[in-house]
Amino acid sequence: MIEKINEAKDFISTVTNNQNIDTMIILGSGMSGFEDNYEPLDQLNYSEIPNFLTPSIEGHAGKLSLVLINDKLTAILSGRAHYYEGYPIQELVIPIRTFTLLGVKNLILTNAAGGISDKYVPGDIISITDHINLTGDNPLIGKNLDTFGPRFPDMSEVYSKNFLKLAEKVAKNHFEFKTGVYAWFTGPSYETPAEVQYAKNIGADLVGMSTVPEAIVAKHAGMEISAFSLVTNLAAGISKNPLNHKEVVEIADQSKQKLQGFMKEFLFELNSDN
Ligand code: HPA
Repeated sequence: MIEKINEAKDFISTVTNNQNIDTMIILGSGMSGFEDNYEPLDQLNYSEIPNFLTPSIEGHAGKLSLVLINDKLTAILSGRAHYYEGYPIQELVIPIRTFTLLGVKNLILTNAAGGISDKYVPGDIISITDHINLTGDNPLIGKNLDTFGPRFPDMSEVYSKNFLKLAEKVAKNHFEFKTGVYAWFTGPSYETPAEVQYAKNIGADLVGMSTVPEAIVAKHAGMEISAFSLVTNLAAGISKNPLNHKEVVEIADQSKQKLQGFMKEFLFELNSDN
């Protein structure tokens, strides 16, 4: 695995001339296009980067853009591969580990999620405060890669309290600040109403099919992390209607501008602090 990560790192280093990259952003469903807010220094398709998986899902472009945000070199990854696409979990997190070796300290994740909390309506943007891994899998299973972090990493603050404070401040200019706990299911089937009730009973406010493997590996490597969910639908059984992917994509499209406006300001501010 370390060879695969090094190969990807060496490839990207030649493009960046070994410049340090401070922050990486992974754009989830419906967020592709955010990179167009910036003048790219370079753009690469994941298919050109050794060992990066190409997402097969619509709305996940599979493109890396290197941009300057407030003068700091930032990697925007538009689209991700998901666990339900059948890839080994350790391969899903190659981008996180590659950028760890390229100097990245800050990780910003976005996703589409189903809302459980009665405080949410579709179109809301939620700042994730913690997660529950309901899949039974973990990207750190296997030989520990000591270069990145310890065998038994602490997970008591996966989502940075400092970044949450910044999100609250920036959200004032964009939408009502709401927080929640994200439960990770494998997908690709949506949850049953009973599964959603179970997630609710154990403290989840959102359900989704991504983000957690990336957050675990980034935390293992000591990154400071923020994650934002766009509520595209009320979760199964909370909504009286059956779920369909088309609706999820439509709501994501409608709310994209709001999330992008927030993200632009959040990233600018983040790069002023560090
Ligand atoms: N469940 C899981 N993932 C999702 C959902 C959902 O209801 N909506 C968008 N992504």
